[in-house]
Amino acid sequence: LSPILVSRRSEVEPFHAMDVLARANALRAAGRSVVSLAVGQPSDPAPRIVREAAARALADGAIGYTDALGRAELRQAICGHYRDHYGLDVPADRVVVTTGSSAGFNLAFLAMFDPGDKVAITVPGYPAYRNIMKALGIEVVEIDLEGAAWLTAEVLERVHREEGLKGLLFASPANPTGAVIPVNELKALVEAAKQMGIRTISDEIYHRLCYTADDVTALAFDDDVTVINSFSKYYCMTGWRIGWMIAPQRLVRAIERIQQSLYISAPDLSQIAAARAFDATSELEAVRERYLANRAMLADALPKLGFAFAAPMDGAFYAYCDVTRHSNDSMAFAAKMLDEAGVAATPGRDFDPFEGNRYMRFSYAGSNDDIAEAIRRLTGWLG
Ligand SMILES: Cc1ncc(COP(=O)(O)O)c(C=O)c1O
Repeated sequence: LSPILVSRRSEVEPFHAMDVLARANALRAAGRSVVSLAVGQPSDPAPRIVREAAARALADGAIGYTDALGRAELRQAICGHYRDHYGLDVPADRVVVTTGSSAGFNLAFLAMFDPGDKVAITVPGYPAYRNIMKALGIEVVEIDLEGAAWLTAEVLERVHREEGLKGLLFASPANPTGAVIPVNELKALVEAAKQMGIRTISDEIYHRLCYTADDVTALAFDDDVTVINSFSKYYCMTGWRIGWMIAPQRLVRAIERIQQSLYISAPDLSQIAAARAFDATSELEAVRERYLANRAMLADALPKLGFAFAAPMDGAFYAYCDVTRHSNDSMAFAAKMLDEAGVAATPGRDFDPFEGNRYMRFSYAGSNDDIAEAIRRLTGWLG
């Protein structure tokens, strides 16, 4: 009998943060109270009108496949969002509805790159970028930001000279740092990439959660950028697995072909529900206000507790902190903090394979009470 072989492409890093979550769940199961600032998802449910639309569709019963590119009314609603929020006219035939932004990455990478192509991402950054690309045989070029909050056009130009990049992927606001690329820097970055023939993907999943500036989409500077977005974060719909892309016209048919075979379509029920999400602004802005209050609490408390901010808390719902005043091993420190203080946060290793041992990410997507309690516990533990 031949041994069961596991493909080399599947040898991507596990999510180390899951170890912290598993430990937090085990402690909870054993009766301990744990406050979690570990997960990057809103604690609120999807907006009421979204859930009502889903309930009506369920009662009607006909939930089927949709066009591979998505339901027409959702694609139109997404165009409406680009008009209202960014003042941009995006034709509906460039909108692709996806199974969360996660599927959007898969589709974009497959449609845009071939095995062996070099695609740059920034470090620290969201780990799935690296893992999906590796699994697809794309050569990932990790640009270490070395303490800078965002990637500049100059750094991209230098890396391109050394590496010969085919692609670039960045997020603003970013995970894990929350940093937002200022508009002039974003314009320079997108234009530099275009000039060098580098194809750009802009992950805009944390748009509408920027606290220091208005949202600007990379599409404003180059119609050929592939934009990835999702209903998971601002719209509080993580578990619905629904997102979208704005694709350059010449990529749409390729993406459609791949979507047909990989996913057939994004989930119909979630598409029906998500079409209402842009009408839930007052409910969602109330959630955002809560993040703002959480952010203010952490902005005040974390430095006093010896956690130095490694990036400005401009957006998303994360504080990324240097923890070296307490430890040089953030994995061990996170485990100790969880065991002794009952507070869970995410060690930096998933986001930064080089220097992640120095950092931790605190999510403030939870309730005001959770943040206040976490601060109380950490103050007692460290003070
Ligand atoms: C930067 C970033 N992009 C994409 C995702 C994936 O989101 P989803 O697949 O739920 O749309 C996440 C989730 O945490 C994220 O932080």
